[in-house]
Amino acid sequence: MQLPFPEVETPSDAALETGRKLFAGPCDFLKGVVAMSGMPPADRIEFCFAGRSNVGKSSLINALTGRKGLARASNTPGRTQEINFFGLGDERYLVDLPGYGFANAPVAVVEKWQRLLKSYLSGRPTLRRAFVLIDARHGVKPVDEEIMSLLDKSAVAFQAVLTKTDKVRKSELDASLTKTRAALNRHPAAYPEIVLTSSEKGDGIETLRAIIAALD
Ligand code: GTP
Ligand code: MG
Repeated sequence: MQLPFPEVETPSDAALETGRKLFAGPCDFLKGVVAMSGMPPADRIEFCFAGRSNVGKSSLINALTGRKGLARASNTPGRTQEINFFGLGDERYLVDLPGYGFANAPVAVVEKWQRLLKSYLSGRPTLRRAFVLIDARHGVKPVDEEIMSLLDKSAVAFQAVLTKTDKVRKSELDASLTKTRAALNRHPAAYPEIVLTSSEKGDGIETLRAIIAALD
């Protein structure tokens, strides 16, 4: 059966307000981690942002928290080279991941990040949901599906988030959505709704705040 994977519905006013409050409160950089041994204790739920290099992971964290410089965003693909933990209130971590599918660095370095990324995605018991970011201009690529398969195997629920929707025309967006839906159909760990976002314009940000705040 083909699942529709609709765009997520706008949350209720109460849910939006809960999300707003959560993200208006403290959110602080905790640490950057380069090995599984450096992870903070798994003592609260966490949400990570995964996706290809340059897809907009760090920018999305900045947009959610309303703090431009919190996560380091950059024009240089591969900017985020560590697993960065941010404490969101006292009960949640937000986790900014290094991008995957980035080749313009020494092979040994890339392999080390990718190994760490995969260990994290498959071995973090408190990972409540992974957001898998997809560039609205490109749709799902083979490396995205590789990560989705890893999440399937690890039984980590993930939700697709289209980024940079301000950069596409409606027809391009529809083409990316079609591709994304076809891919999600192949992945049992995929949450059945897609979030459309623009960190630049703020679209989808309140909805994503509400989604994160509603999960416990
Ligand atoms: P790595 O850490 O290298 O994997 O990249 P990343 O996924 O964290 O991407 P980052 O947030 O650094 O953004 C990459 C580039 O895309 C930056 O130049 C951002 O300004 C730009 N960008 C991110 N989100 C948006 C968006 O919603 N709209 C537009 N127009 N540009 C965006
Ligand atoms: Mg980044």
